[in-house]
Amino acid sequence: MKEKYLAIGEELDQDEYFICDYKVKSDLSIETAGSRIAEEESTGTWTRPTTLTEDIYKKYGGKVVMAEGNMVRIGFPVVDFSGDIGGVPQILSIIAGNLFGLDSLKKVRLHDIQIPSVITERYPGPKFGISGLRKLLDRPEKPLVGTIVKPKIGLPPKEFAEYVYQAGKGGLTNSKDDETLVDQDFCPLEERVSAVSEKLDLLEEEGHMMIHAHNVSTSGHEILDAADIALENGARQLMVDVLTVGFSGVQALAEDPSIDVPVHVHRAMHGALTKDPEHGISMPVICKLVRMIGGDSFHIGTYGTGKMHANISEELRSKEALIGDMHGIVRTIPVSSGGLHPGHMTDLMEKSGNDVQIQAGGGVSGHPDGVRAGAAAMIQAVDAAYEGISLDEYAKTHEELKKALERWS
Ligand code: 3PG
Repeated sequence: MKEKYLAIGEELDQDEYFICDYKVKSDLSIETAGSRIAEEESTGTWTRPTTLTEDIYKKYGGKVVMAEGNMVRIGFPVVDFSGDIGGVPQILSIIAGNLFGLDSLKKVRLHDIQIPSVITERYPGPKFGISGLRKLLDRPEKPLVGTIVKPKIGLPPKEFAEYVYQAGKGGLTNSKDDETLVDQDFCPLEERVSAVSEKLDLLEEEGHMMIHAHNVSTSGHEILDAADIALENGARQLMVDVLTVGFSGVQALAEDPSIDVPVHVHRAMHGALTKDPEHGISMPVICKLVRMIGGDSFHIGTYGTGKMHANISEELRSKEALIGDMHGIVRTIPVSSGGLHPGHMTDLMEKSGNDVQIQAGGGVSGHPDGVRAGAAAMIQAVDAAYEGISLDEYAKTHEELKKALERWS
């Protein structure tokens, strides 16, 4: 029997189809494997329903237009995504839903997507993005440089805020809560935001502009209340974990008109989806969705320089997904974070370019002379890489950088 859902070689109108590329491992032929995905995710199931008319199949069926090697390209008609209710959960249920569990596929990875403008137009995109953040921080060209307050958990609000202050005195423009800190008894959100806001105001009075991303990752029905608590206490930026909370959490913050601060998006748990090169969902796909729904900054990795698993070609595609053209949507700043220290800056910035927010937690707080010196060393390393001067050369006249390089050589 000829497989349905095959339209190999057909040119898809990019305004009419949501186009997805999948990498597939299966004992089936690649055409049949593709057909199984298109069937499961559009009008079919494991058998041909008697209720599936030719008209329904033609209007709503996914189309496999390419099946070569281990890759298939499938276009899902935009009408499959229509309606006012559904959002990203509904998009994911189609492009990344049951297909991962199909027994006939040993592995499958959603490699890339092209979202038609008729869908991106329903979302606001970032309120600030790269240019908004640069303006806010008065840092027009160089990378934004930040820290994650360490230890991850345990500091009480006053000491936490003092860390942020010292980081600002060292020259950092950004800092953030760690992904595991939200509202614990030892550092409640309200007290923490209030203490940090006092220090950020003080830094501003002293001539230095800095923002701190406060983590409001919580249950769906609580996230806007958590954001309110943070904003009422002076928060200049909010942070949310897109995978543990869900895309709808980011969207709730980004779309709320009363939230007039940037939304920093973390990716805790991403490795469960992204680490296996043959299975799961690639980071560039997640990046495109985060940008569409309004993340102002988003973690994409450190190009092999830090502590997290790296797939450099995917990280370069993630960068492009956030800053390349996407139906005119405002550009999201890529965040490089995880195991970074000043010694990484030349290698990192060769790949990241200047449109990046670089963050170091241990690489600031682990400096032998403390947080302020650690922050200064990070800024010096970024300045050196920006000027094209070797770190060793720059360190000859910059004591903090010299000590950092000795510490982490
Ligand atoms: C992050 O939020 O990216 C990590 O907590 C980074 O911390 P590190 O710089 O100490 O690895």
